[in-house]
Amino acid sequence: MSAPNIETIVSLSKRRGFVFPASDIYGGLGSSWDYGPLGVELANNIKKSWWNWLVYERDDIEGLDSSIIQNRLVWKYSGHEQTFHDPLVDCRTCKGRFRLDKLQDVQCLNHPDVHPGENKECSLTEARDFNLMFRTTMGAVSTEDDPAALAYLRPETAQGIFINFANVLNTSRRKLPFGVAQIGKAFRNEVTPGNFIFRTREFEQMEMEYFCRPEDAGRMHQEWIDGFQEWIQELGISSENLKLYEQTKDELAHYSERTVDVLYRYFPEREDEEKQWDELMGIANRTDYDLRVHSKKPEDAGGKRINPDSTEDLSYFDPQTNERLYPYVIEPAIGVNRTLLAVMMDAYTEKTNDKGETRVILKLKPELAPIKVAVLPLAKNKAEIVDMAKTIKRSLQPSMRAVYDDTGGIGKLYARQDEIGTPFCVTVDHESLVDNAVTVRDRDTWEQERIGIDVLKDYLQKRLA
Ligand code: GAP
Repeated sequence: MSAPNIETIVSLSKRRGFVFPASDIYGGLGSSWDYGPLGVELANNIKKSWWNWLVYERDDIEGLDSSIIQNRLVWKYSGHEQTFHDPLVDCRTCKGRFRLDKLQDVQCLNHPDVHPGENKECSLTEARDFNLMFRTTMGAVSTEDDPAALAYLRPETAQGIFINFANVLNTSRRKLPFGVAQIGKAFRNEVTPGNFIFRTREFEQMEMEYFCRPEDAGRMHQEWIDGFQEWIQELGISSENLKLYEQTKDELAHYSERTVDVLYRYFPEREDEEKQWDELMGIANRTDYDLRVHSKKPEDAGGKRINPDSTEDLSYFDPQTNERLYPYVIEPAIGVNRTLLAVMMDAYTEKTNDKGETRVILKLKPELAPIKVAVLPLAKNKAEIVDMAKTIKRSLQPSMRAVYDDTGGIGKLYARQDEIGTPFCVTVDHESLVDNAVTVRDRDTWEQERIGIDVLKDYLQKRLA
């Protein structure tokens, strides 16, 4: 089972402290969301899993953390100033402003039962290009529109990797093929943000640029498509809710030769099966486009440097073939927020207890669960039991995220932990004072086992692994 719709996750998130609407006390800010105590843990665990898999478990990938604000020339030569826009239309009747290619995802403001353009009153303007980059000004400026002070918030983390290619190559003394991984915020002034954290103007990306010889790019592209499908399933996402989509020539970004998207079933409630899916990640073959456009050497057909501003040549000398080349780049790019949403939707389960009541269980992989174990005293007015439970919590805490909770009856406490995905509850009862053992309850089966306190940490660590 998975969540029947995104709304179910929105309400669970708000109720239990995963994600809150941003600026809520001032009426919100449309598409911004804040991650609460559980949401930040879940997001951190997703990022850790990605980083461990790429940077620590492999031998060919380095990490990087580049700036959000870069020299404006980065975005000039990357092509984003020229081409990073969406087609925008206005409706003269309802005064709505929409993305032409996403009309099917939104409603007419006057007639919410139809999409813009579908009612006879709708009057859409011709489409015009709207650049998605957030603009800001750097330093103390005399006027807000001073072009010398214009800067952008990065719309993708990738460019920070390309402009540091030579730095990473020279300091790590890498040979092709190798990759550079980066996690960080990106910003896009989306025309129609929405669907909770699916499309927002501020979001977080996990991007890896894998540099290789041009003739290896096709094969490596396919390897990364296969590899990422496996990693996503290891996060606990069912293959039934995943599928691949090959972008058409018209859909490809200006830098891409081939892009394959991994889609997730974010909208299972939609009748039309085709409309249930949307992009979780994209895996692109960016060719040598980016390293060339940021390099000082390449020339156009007329012998003019294509980048007269760059001070660096981002080519690579291959010691095996004795030739200099611009490496090709395979780029798997995935959003933290969309991954978190897919993970929560897929983990969402309902179960009926023996009283016939429906309980929510978030069957998160233990690796991702915000809290690994909750220690609960059966009698909160008995000092010895409370002390023992608190001592156990503190002894577990250095090795795993543990919490102590005595704010309700045991049934309520179990239900609360099930709903936030805590794999184990440890209950301290009167018997514990005698036998030095506790009851460990499994989130998914609700089965209970008696475990000695002296071996509890080892037992939990084994089961969490
Ligand atoms: N460097 C390539 C790149 O940025 P992209 O497909 O535009 O490619 C990569 O973005 C991923 O970032 C997407 O697959 C998605 O997971 C996430 N993403 C993009 N725009 C987003 C938005 N407005 N809100 C939330 N996540 C977004």
